[in-house]
Amino acid sequence: MINIWKTNKNKKILDNLDRDRLPLHIAIIMDGNGRWARQRGLPRTVGHRAGVEALRGIVQCCSQIGIKYLTVYAFSTENWKRPQYEIGILMSLLKEYIRLELKELHSNEVRIHVLGNISQLPKDVGEQVLKACDKTRNNKGLVLNLALNYGGRAEIIQALQAIVDDVINNNLSLESINEEVFANYLYTADCPDPDLVIRTSGEMRLSNFLLWQAAYSEIVVVDECWPDFKEESLLDTIRVYQNRDRRFGGIKKVEE
Ligand code: IPE
Ligand code: IPE
Ligand code: MG
Repeated sequence: MINIWKTNKNKKILDNLDRDRLPLHIAIIMDGNGRWARQRGLPRTVGHRAGVEALRGIVQCCSQIGIKYLTVYAFSTENWKRPQYEIGILMSLLKEYIRLELKELHSNEVRIHVLGNISQLPKDVGEQVLKACDKTRNNKGLVLNLALNYGGRAEIIQALQAIVDDVINNNLSLESINEEVFANYLYTADCPDPDLVIRTSGEMRLSNFLLWQAAYSEIVVVDECWPDFKEESLLDTIRVYQNRDRRFGGIKKVEE
């Protein structure tokens, strides 16, 4: 595993972070692989391959600094609109990432979890993902949520369907439905809302990511394309987060 403490620069940034106020849950929209490749005159798929390398580094970094939950947006329900060739590469890269990393992730106590409808993924990819979830299910370290064939709207609809089903079958009363109950029907049941949502490559939109869960997340958009987002960039982003004033609709304590 790469040791992120090794460079003096990272050590300095880490020293500037408040280790007691790390975000509990970081969610990342890993965007800009295509542009990263285009800027270098390379095919988009080379950008996706470089994106996997960035993911490897960021997962290790989060695990080492003690982040409890990391959610990464790997494939959206809208990404099926892309050319078949690109979808195929994305799927095989995903499978390869899990295959190559599973042993190390497992030995680092990372628990892999999926957000999204994996029944629509190619069979071999779905099987690989389920195998990883199963193998790591009792791990106690970083929870790595892979948002795969994920869409916030689709997630809310499937939650609604499950709720209606429970109401019809008398497993749930209409009166008992509240925000907490609803959240338990989402893919992220048991996972706290993200404190920090990061989007790379400068686009200022959610693109159907965690629509319910990001209600009060701090959003940080960075200009770097995803393949350039390294440990140092993550630590910088956490520093930005720590300088934010989270009010959740209230007012600052000193003003009370
Ligand atoms: C993110 O990079 C990867 C996925 C959406 C799967 P993009 O492929 O969206 O890269 P850009 O936005 O075209 O640069
Ligand atoms: C969001 O990026 C989805 C993922 C990163 C997986 P997109 O590139 O698909 O989003 P848009 O099309 O720019 O909104
Ligand atoms: Mg994009």
